[in-house]
Amino acid sequence: MGNGNVLVVGSLNMDLTVRVDKTPQIGETRVGKTFKQLPGGKGANQAIAAARLGSSVSMIGCVGEDDYGEELQTALRKETINIEGITKTRLSSTGIALITVDDRGNNSIVIVSGANEKLDSVHIDKHISLFDQSDVIVFQLEVPTSTIYHSIDICKKMGKKVIVNLAPYHELKSSIYKKIDYLILNKIEAQCFLKLPDSTVDTLEEKLKEIKDQHIILTLGEDGVMYVYNGQSFKYNAYKIRARDTTGAGDAFTGAFASEISRGKGIIEAIEFAIKASAISVSREGAQNSLPFLKDLQKFKGNRRIFIE
Ligand code: RIB
Repeated sequence: MGNGNVLVVGSLNMDLTVRVDKTPQIGETRVGKTFKQLPGGKGANQAIAAARLGSSVSMIGCVGEDDYGEELQTALRKETINIEGITKTRLSSTGIALITVDDRGNNSIVIVSGANEKLDSVHIDKHISLFDQSDVIVFQLEVPTSTIYHSIDICKKMGKKVIVNLAPYHELKSSIYKKIDYLILNKIEAQCFLKLPDSTVDTLEEKLKEIKDQHIILTLGEDGVMYVYNGQSFKYNAYKIRARDTTGAGDAFTGAFASEISRGKGIIEAIEFAIKASAISVSREGAQNSLPFLKDLQKFKGNRRIFIE
């Protein structure tokens, strides 16, 4: 039985977000409607998602010695997240994300990693006690893969549960996958992971079913979530939601999922909990801004969509 302690090893970015009616095409200039500068980064978002849903959360990451870095740390502190594992580096400025969100709530994101790229194994080793105190360790792919490999090895030596959100997709060495307990990925990431560009969900499902001994959670936006394990697949419907901003929906899902797993809940319960959290997050603007608290989830009464086969 877990104690609800989550460690997130990952990124912090300042999100520079513009609302536009339509995402510009290549070579096109469009006039934006609003501009906001808000704390983000997949790692920080996932840490806050888990903290707001009742977990005791620590984070390991790296920011620059600049105002953005200060602001991002303050945002985590406000959520009572332990930030002793966040280092400030002089070698780079804080990571940023340039985001456009269109009228349908769809986003496109370009990140400049900055200080996130400076998170290395030495830094991880300094904070080994944070691993020891945690039930579950969560990773995404906005920090160097060598740091992720080193950290996952530590987790496995300590017998900890490892969740990896394969976002944004990077190829990982194949030997690392057997050390990952829960792999969370969306359709595009699954197409890259399986090297099947443009393939349908059915094709992805069949290929994922061939993977042994790994809990794979495929998030499909409004088409729900598919859980695949040892040749079997299970589908869970999304809620009917008017999407305002999908930024951070995947982070809401991963953070909520990690929070439930850290409390010793089963995988189906964790998926259902995480689907609700991401549904609430898409109905609100921003990334960290949109992440629900436990009371929001308890009050939430959405209708489920029909899963599209
Ligand atoms: O998942 C959303 C996040 O991706 C944003 O907050 C942005 O910083 C990028 O990391």
